[in-house]
Amino acid sequence: MSKVLVITGGASGIGAATARLAAEKGYSIAINYRTREREATRLVEELNDVGVSAIAVQADISMPEDIKRLYSVVDEKLGLVTALVNSAGIGIGPTRVDETDEAALHQLFTTNVFGLILSTREAVRRMSTAHGGKGGVIVNVSSMASTIGGRPGASLYAASKGAVDAFTVGLAKEVASEGIRAVAVRPGFTITEMTSTYVTDQHILAGISSTIPIGRPAFVDEIAMPVVWLLSEEASFISGALLDISGGGFTLGASALPSEKRVLSAVEN
Ligand SMILES: NC(=O)c1ccc[n+]([C@@H]2O[C@H](COP(=O)([O-])OP(=O)(O)OC[C@H]3O[C@@H](n4cnc5c(N)ncnc54)[C@H](OP(=O)(O)O)[C@@H]3O)[C@@H](O)[C@H]2O)c1
Repeated sequence: MSKVLVITGGASGIGAATARLAAEKGYSIAINYRTREREATRLVEELNDVGVSAIAVQADISMPEDIKRLYSVVDEKLGLVTALVNSAGIGIGPTRVDETDEAALHQLFTTNVFGLILSTREAVRRMSTAHGGKGGVIVNVSSMASTIGGRPGASLYAASKGAVDAFTVGLAKEVASEGIRAVAVRPGFTITEMTSTYVTDQHILAGISSTIPIGRPAFVDEIAMPVVWLLSEEASFISGALLDISGGGFTLGASALPSEKRVLSAVEN
């Protein structure tokens, strides 16, 4: 069976690293992007250069019609999806609940939760044996934020990722008998564009590192490698799992270190 992988938010960060590693495993790959046409096009060229069939598809995951179009394009150009990594996601910036901006909250949940669920819906419609499909694997990119309610100022982001966790556990049960495995990964603080502003400031980087037992943030490949493994047959009995990829989680009190509050309130993951 040909392996067709869709990666939402695939032009950067964890999504792009996953694409590069999956390229070595025989997938045809669809890179979904929202604004990053140049990065997506370059990545597709890079994959094509090593003999991988890859396409870039613009679609805003917060728009249901865009999601449908994404999967129609994949159907037509690569065939039915067999693997999905829902990596597209956004933060909302440090905020307290009493300062919540409705529009920003709406965008957070339409992207991180609604978009992820509707992307999954389209994939399940194609993968499920109940729909004539041949099965598949879905990996949702959650966050360690969900495990502690977020660092200071990140309760809304954490809530969106908590929804991803709960959805993944329920989804796995719903589709297990239809040939589909569903799992979530929960990265800890990872060096990507989403977090790059923090890691260039040595004071902030030291503050973040002090909250991670291993003592440093993750590099993207350290997240992408387990993701690609979870997609593989080697993980054939893993479903409904929430895999923490976090360097040991949080040091004691990391969610509310008073001396580091200024530092931590800037960090969502
Ligand atoms: N970096 C961390 O420390 C960390 C930790 C835990 C979890 N995560 C999660 O990991 C995932 C990937 O993030 P990342 O760290 O790799 O950061 P990133 O490089 O900023 O990747 C996020 C990607 O999602 C895309 N995206 C955002 N909104 C979208 C939309 N509406 N439709 C389609 N694509 C959209 C972005 O594209 P545009 O820029 O064009 O919008 C971007 O390419 C996210 O779900 C994030 O919450 C990250």
